[in-house]
Amino acid sequence: KQYNNILTSKPETGVGLITLNRPKALNALSSPLMLELNEALAEFDADDSVGAIVLTGSERAFAAGADIKEMKDKEFSDVYKNRFLENWTAMTKIRKPVIAAVSGYALGGGCELALMCDIILASPTAVFGQPEINLGVIPGGGGTQRLALAIGKSRTMELVLTGRNFTAQEAEKWGVVSKVVGEGEGQVVKEAVEMGKLIASKGQIAVQAGKEAVNAAYELTLAEGLRFERRLFHGLFATKDQKEGMAAFAEKRKANFTHS
Ligand code: HXC
Repeated sequence: KQYNNILTSKPETGVGLITLNRPKALNALSSPLMLELNEALAEFDADDSVGAIVLTGSERAFAAGADIKEMKDKEFSDVYKNRFLENWTAMTKIRKPVIAAVSGYALGGGCELALMCDIILASPTAVFGQPEINLGVIPGGGGTQRLALAIGKSRTMELVLTGRNFTAQEAEKWGVVSKVVGEGEGQVVKEAVEMGKLIASKGQIAVQAGKEAVNAAYELTLAEGLRFERRLFHGLFATKDQKEGMAAFAEKRKANFTHS
């Protein structure tokens, strides 16, 4: 399908790739872009040939934030009545794992978009930040909440209240990203697609259950989360993939998952 603000492709078996593509605006996340992103995510989520999704931008910018030019003249009544930003949560309802491959600027809503993904890989040039304070506002796409959960109160307060950027290396040290990849154009996308391919080769019901279970850690109490995890674990014994995976181990061969 042709979009105006994003590109989609399937670069490897099992992997859907979404590339934010508003180069002149450093991939500022306008409302039309977000609608297209949600549509593309839903399409890959429903596509049986896709087991993992990679989201990326350009070398210069993953995304430099929500579109400031679109926002600047809005009034409270506009943003309230039109439920501004509410559709951003669609991203978090996707069943399949989403890997962010971040190069360049991931600022404001761009940082928050990366934080909504399940795994973040960063290139050494990646620059993260929540600079909204400089615009007279605060993060509105989950930044205060997801950063606090990821890196704790003091660092989150510092970042949100000063608006200073943080580097890929800081992000790795704090556990915001799982890895800073080596230098080189396209390297971060290459590694994210490889990781997506590996995840897509596993039993997809188990992969999606794993994602649900990890996400429960952010919403439930420990006792509820442990019960939720155990019930999902029990449920996987109703799948062919569990029979195949365990039989393959016993027979010393590679499992051939059918995602059923
Ligand atoms: C609209 C943007 C933009 C944005 C960049 N551009 N960021 N347009 N919204 N968020 C546009 C610029 O206006 C410019 O357009 C072009 O992209 C290139 O940007 P430059 O500033 O010329 O590039 P450079 O000097 O390299 O600086 C890069 C930058 C800077 C440091 C990333 O652009 C910047 O500070 N951007 C804003 C970052 C920000 O504050 N983000 C948070 C937004 S608020 P022209 O037409 O002049 O060439 C937010 C709220 C989230 O995200 C709420 C929940 C989602």
